[in-house]
Amino acid sequence: MRSAILLGLLLAAVWSPRGGFADEARFFPEKGTHFGVYYYPEHWPEEQWERDIRRVAELGFDFIHYGEFAWARLEPEDGKFDFAWMDKAVALAADHGLKVLMSTPSPCPPAWLATAHPEILAVDRNGVRGHHRGSRLTGSLANPVYRKHVERIVTKLAERYARDERVWGWQIGNEPHIQTGEDYSPSAQAEFREWLKRKYGTVEALNEAWGAAFWSYTLDNFEQVQVPTSNPHTYLDFQTYTSEEIARDLGDQAAIVRRHGDGRQWITTNYAYYQGLENVNPFLTRDTLDFASHTMYLTHNRKNSSGDSLAHRLGCGMEYSLGEELAASVSGYTGIMELQPGQINWGRFNAMPMPGAVRMWVWHAFGMGERFVCTYRFRQPLFGMEQFHHGIMQTDGVSVSHGGKDFVRAVAEINRLEEKLDPSAENEFVNRSRTALLWSNRNLLDIERYPHHQDWDTWQHIYTYYQGLKRMGVNVVFVGDGDDFDPAGTPFMVVPAYQMMSRELVGKLEDYVAKGGHLIISTRSGLKDDKGHLWEAKIQQPIWNLIGGEIEYYDHLPANRPGKVAFGGKSYPWHTWGTVVKPGSTVESWGTYEDQFYEGASAILHRDPGKGSVTYVGAWSDDWELEYDLLRRVYGKELGKLPFDLPPYVFVHYRQGLWVAVNYTDQMIDVPAGGGAEWLLGGRELPPAGVSVWRAGP
Ligand code: GAL
Repeated sequence: MRSAILLGLLLAAVWSPRGGFADEARFFPEKGTHFGVYYYPEHWPEEQWERDIRRVAELGFDFIHYGEFAWARLEPEDGKFDFAWMDKAVALAADHGLKVLMSTPSPCPPAWLATAHPEILAVDRNGVRGHHRGSRLTGSLANPVYRKHVERIVTKLAERYARDERVWGWQIGNEPHIQTGEDYSPSAQAEFREWLKRKYGTVEALNEAWGAAFWSYTLDNFEQVQVPTSNPHTYLDFQTYTSEEIARDLGDQAAIVRRHGDGRQWITTNYAYYQGLENVNPFLTRDTLDFASHTMYLTHNRKNSSGDSLAHRLGCGMEYSLGEELAASVSGYTGIMELQPGQINWGRFNAMPMPGAVRMWVWHAFGMGERFVCTYRFRQPLFGMEQFHHGIMQTDGVSVSHGGKDFVRAVAEINRLEEKLDPSAENEFVNRSRTALLWSNRNLLDIERYPHHQDWDTWQHIYTYYQGLKRMGVNVVFVGDGDDFDPAGTPFMVVPAYQMMSRELVGKLEDYVAKGGHLIISTRSGLKDDKGHLWEAKIQQPIWNLIGGEIEYYDHLPANRPGKVAFGGKSYPWHTWGTVVKPGSTVESWGTYEDQFYEGASAILHRDPGKGSVTYVGAWSDDWELEYDLLRRVYGKELGKLPFDLPPYVFVHYRQGLWVAVNYTDQMIDVPAGGGAEWLLGGRELPPAGVSVWRAGP
């Protein structure tokens, strides 16, 4: 079985636009999905550790996660280190057959450090410096004293554990970001100025890029640069610098661990909340970490859940799915570092997950191909900020919680069914429909800074297309503009609201289509150049050739007076953004505006030069159905009858011969498995929070 898995992973590498698969085979050779728990020895009396750790193993988990906030315990005084307790925790894990996932404690500088050197703490946009108050991610990454201390504690940890066979892998920090969003400390401002000097060379170039002639912003030298700022270009640069600074910190820590190790352990970090932590860009650590992992709390009750009567209990399955595919896109594979085993403590309200929901989330992770699933957390804390956060165990520390039972049930089921994975199995539809989604953190930041319509939300625009792809059962790979756009690996490509484009990028998209790729590109794309300036040309003119038509103007409507777009005999409401296009001679007009003073004008263009095609979608529909129907037409044209037409929030995944379906809606669903399916779990009827697993019939 083991060699079969290796073979499968190598085969999988053939289509990957990212590589990284050789490492995947090296790091995760024995099992498809590993299971683990967060455990904080420092929170519990030492005499309970053995009991707890034994229980972790008995419940079917195979690794245990330690240490990411324990700096004060590991270095109780400046330069005095105490690893005895961690040694004991590592030894206990090994005694019970558990691998250890070690973390670096950089998010939580200890009191002695913050007191002696308040300058190690970040400053918020109001100029207020943090103080030591029991929080985390408070450090100023740019501060040399903070950096020196991080380097020292990570070095000490690495010296001790980077060659320790009991330690399986490393997590650098925790959910990387700066608690204040950006750091406005003197250290960060000084570093930002250096960053600008490297980027622009001269202050004249800086003034030009920032459009500093506007409102007499013109600077005489780099020393005059200060943030916060009112200028959008300065802020975009500062956010980009911040993203790079976060990545630099992760990379520096990873390099220390790597230097002390023997290459056997893997190194990752757990990215999170893409919609909230806007300065974080997981792709920036592609070369310094082995892969990106991710975290997900599904019942936080914000966006991207079904909105039906069970949404608050079943959670934001779409965000989970996107989070997984984005993290996996960094190096070709991922694992989920934190998955809630029950109620959380920090949502707008914190509903009990529906019985079965936790099990479904674990199965969903398995279906998506996660190499590990680690639950946050093993024991519910009795004190501190997260008192009401459920664990696998209840507050007595010995009884399994409601969600914990669901979790360990899924672990047992998956551990049993793992052997049915067939690494050489492939599915033609999955391969032929694989889709690249062009994503850029800078684009997001730029649009969000000036959305131009109060209802514009860039992430939700991306989700409009993403959700349509998931309803068709399509796998998505997030790509950046520096990646290869290769129709052999990703025959389809979606470019949602990619506002800043260079001419090179437009050229790459043209090549992709010329090589046979099918491109779907949406409104706002190409409005600006890659500096964030409008083109000195007609509106979006650099993409006119690509889309085969001329963009005339765009319109916004109030939400209570939506317009309509006609497509395929149906009518779709829109109000946030509608672009009016004039089709060229080689293009079909697929959709038109049905009202407003431009009634009858085109909203959607489609052309198929050679083997590839381009579809330009000028309007964003209010219910996302236009985009779904349009995707179906484009994919159906190329692939014929599409196997899945899923309701939103029902997911079907293919993993090495197994199909996994999960249901985040309040309706009973008929699983679209072909005839002769061999049911391994559940069946054709898929209830809310249900899981069905099957192998395709002959
Ligand atoms: C995560 C965080 C964990 C813990 C958890 C509680 O965002 O990484 O450390 O705070 O939330 O749900």
